[in-house]
Amino acid sequence: MADDKHPSHLLKALQEREKKGSLRQLKSSFPPIDFCSNDYLGFSKQAILNTHLEPFQGHRSSAGSGGSRLISGNIPFTEETEQHIALFHHAEAALIFNSGYDANLGLLACLPQKNDLVLYDELIHASLYDGIRLSYATAYKFKHNAIEHLTELLNRHSNAFQTIYVVVESIYSMDGDDAPLLAITDLLKHYKNVFLIVDEAHAIGLFGEQGRGLCQQLGIEQNCLARIYTYGKALGTHGAAIVGSKILRHYLINFSRAFIYTTALPLHSIQSIRAGYSALVNSTEQRQQLKENIALFQKGVKDLKGFIKSYSAIQCLVLGSNASADSVEQKLAHHSIYAKAIKSPTVKEGSERIRFCLHAFNTAQEIEHLLTLLHE
Ligand SMILES: Cc1ncc(COP(=O)(O)O)c(C=O)c1O
Repeated sequence: MADDKHPSHLLKALQEREKKGSLRQLKSSFPPIDFCSNDYLGFSKQAILNTHLEPFQGHRSSAGSGGSRLISGNIPFTEETEQHIALFHHAEAALIFNSGYDANLGLLACLPQKNDLVLYDELIHASLYDGIRLSYATAYKFKHNAIEHLTELLNRHSNAFQTIYVVVESIYSMDGDDAPLLAITDLLKHYKNVFLIVDEAHAIGLFGEQGRGLCQQLGIEQNCLARIYTYGKALGTHGAAIVGSKILRHYLINFSRAFIYTTALPLHSIQSIRAGYSALVNSTEQRQQLKENIALFQKGVKDLKGFIKSYSAIQCLVLGSNASADSVEQKLAHHSIYAKAIKSPTVKEGSERIRFCLHAFNTAQEIEHLLTLLHE
């Protein structure tokens, strides 16, 4: 279809997507039974802002922060919250970003330098990948969770680069499986100037003491140069923090463009992050309920082929095409269940899937209903 108001590429690209069944479209109403959101503990549904709000402490209006952190958008409450985050995650310092996407982009774009190497798992989130693309460093991917491949790349390249960064997620967003973090930290001990970066987006709230994350559960927090905690998932709000040393924080304040050149989060956002952390401390029951729900779901799908091995809240059934993923999504929606078809190009062609996110608030009845439909 010709259109002289737009560059020709726009319509062509959209038409190609449509042909492949991979056109993305916004929806604003969803089937009511939630097996889709990342609100694993149900914090966003509990309106945590109302129950855990810190006092305003005389700060100016929270509607907007009025500028970037380096100009007029920095308030004592934000820095106090960063200290609280650092303490909670057993780190020297933390720096809040406006989203997990910004944090990952802002970290990876400024940390690795021209003579450095980034080795990243092939399934890392787009935000980490985009950051790597913005940096001037050389970058190679290693096969998903393949410690042998990572070892081979380290052996091949460790002498040729000044510094090497290894980038992984503790729980992978699209597969739900976990990185072999203990094996990775053991491996990295054999090399000099190799630094580990772990995105804990899908682990905060679910693993570790009071939901501190998988690095804490495994005792490897201090082996990481940087850990990223995002607040749009189990914390039920939005924003993110990069946690690490004081020097790292100072470096990011000076060089991370995604931090420097953007309006800071407003007070109410910082308050909701703080409220999320307060809620975490008292979330043992929700975590236990979520564990039980995951166990119930896994027992029910044991005999079904195509599930990716995962012990997290993300459970994926690979269906192999956009059309089959769509048709399962639609069938479930027909029964009021919302689970999302994850299609190519978000995932590799052939690995299109339906992604179930389990929550503490899903009832046994909802899970049984879903299992019955999956077995039909
Ligand atoms: C692993 C991972 N990292 C980072 C992000 C981005 O976080 P945010 O949604 O806060 O931008 C996501 C979001 O989907 C994610 O899954």
